[in-house]
Amino acid sequence: MSTSDSTPGTEQELRVGIVGCGGIARSHGRAYAGNPRARIVAAHDVDPAATKKFAEEFDTAAADSLADLAAHGVQLASVCTPPGSHTATTVALLELGISVLLEKPPAVTLAELDVIAEAEAASTGSVYVVFQHRHGSGAKRAHRLLAEGALGAPQIAVCETLWYRPESYFDPAWRGNWAGEGGGPTLGHAIHQIDLMLHLLGNWSTVDAKASRIARPVEFEDVATASVALESGAVASVVTSLLSPREVSRIRVDTTGGTLEVNHLYGYSDADWSWFPLPDAGTLAANGVDPGTARGDSTAAGTGLDVWQASAGTDLPSNHAAQIDELVDDLLAGRRHATTLTSTRPTMEFVTGLYASALEGTTIARGDLTPDSAFYCRLDGGHPADRVSARFTLS
Ligand SMILES: NC(=O)c1ccc[n+]([C@@H]2O[C@H](COP(=O)([O-])OP(=O)(O)OC[C@H]3O[C@@H](n4cnc5c(N)ncnc54)[C@H](O)[C@@H]3O)[C@@H](O)[C@H]2O)c1
Repeated sequence: MSTSDSTPGTEQELRVGIVGCGGIARSHGRAYAGNPRARIVAAHDVDPAATKKFAEEFDTAAADSLADLAAHGVQLASVCTPPGSHTATTVALLELGISVLLEKPPAVTLAELDVIAEAEAASTGSVYVVFQHRHGSGAKRAHRLLAEGALGAPQIAVCETLWYRPESYFDPAWRGNWAGEGGGPTLGHAIHQIDLMLHLLGNWSTVDAKASRIARPVEFEDVATASVALESGAVASVVTSLLSPREVSRIRVDTTGGTLEVNHLYGYSDADWSWFPLPDAGTLAANGVDPGTARGDSTAAGTGLDVWQASAGTDLPSNHAAQIDELVDDLLAGRRHATTLTSTRPTMEFVTGLYASALEGTTIARGDLTPDSAFYCRLDGGHPADRVSARFTLS
């Protein structure tokens, strides 16, 4: 397919560019290629060999700059570059009037996030953020039913990212340090489950965190634990590790009506979700439990099982295609896609708050993270490296 013409996209087809042609760009490429209403018209990487390889693989034009990408009539660009380059790349695309689908983490600081938001306000383009786990059918059901109160009121949640990364994972020079990664696994890995938890349960209000470097040759944490208060009055425990041989990504929410859980690794399907409704009064009584004290005040208890099962539809796994298909439909219909800079800012605020709490040894409220905070401009708060290192080292 020749992609060198500059025919503008029509209502029926979105003209897409890819910026950064490494690992995750392939997931974007496959998702657009599988969507009959999208066409990848050009790709660009700072490494010309990477551009060429991707262009051949996806039968598209190799662009030698962002301006060249724009010349191909790109309407939406997927930014798949390393986190430290997200801001400059996204701002440049917005200045060219191109909308952006920005890989996670959208930026490495709240200050950068606000720079992107300012550029978006001045552009005809818009910015959307990749958090694909918001877009699978399980999360959509859970989000809707929790918002409606059909599963009862959330009281306590557990959010786990227990992954394993051997020492060799940190061999590339940009890994394992603040300069290269912007932050540790809380920013780079756990952010997916943290985002999903906040998406399901609403915003957070305070965080008390401990981050430690136990085993890996990194400047930041390789494990972290956090105790979180949510605005709803519920509480949550967030646990992150790169030292866990049996890996799991898990969110569990105990409500007044039952237990909702998703248990997966890098993406879920419907079968990875479960709903355990609070047993009915008869069952509780048969087990010697006083139903009056055990049932709580849920109006959903006893009916939740039906509500969850009744909400089942087509199983849509939480991969890049789930979000990209929705985004393409939204843009072609002139709708704003839901996963925006604004709707994902609480997640970046949480990551920032976790580092601030761990490094300052104090409770951090979301309202503390103003531009006056040292953590607004740097996730390490601008502390000297030896102080950060000492704080993360177990004595
Ligand atoms: N959503 C997910 O599940 C998921 C999974 C993995 C990675 N990611 C994210 O995707 C992004 C890229 O990660 P990756 O694993 O593909 O990295 P990668 O190193 O495999 O690829 C990055 C590519 O970007 C190119 N690049 C660097 N700076 C550039 C610039 N300024 N302009 C154009 N190209 C540039 C590099 O040459 C490289 O080819 C990161 O933000 C990462 O966090 C998301």
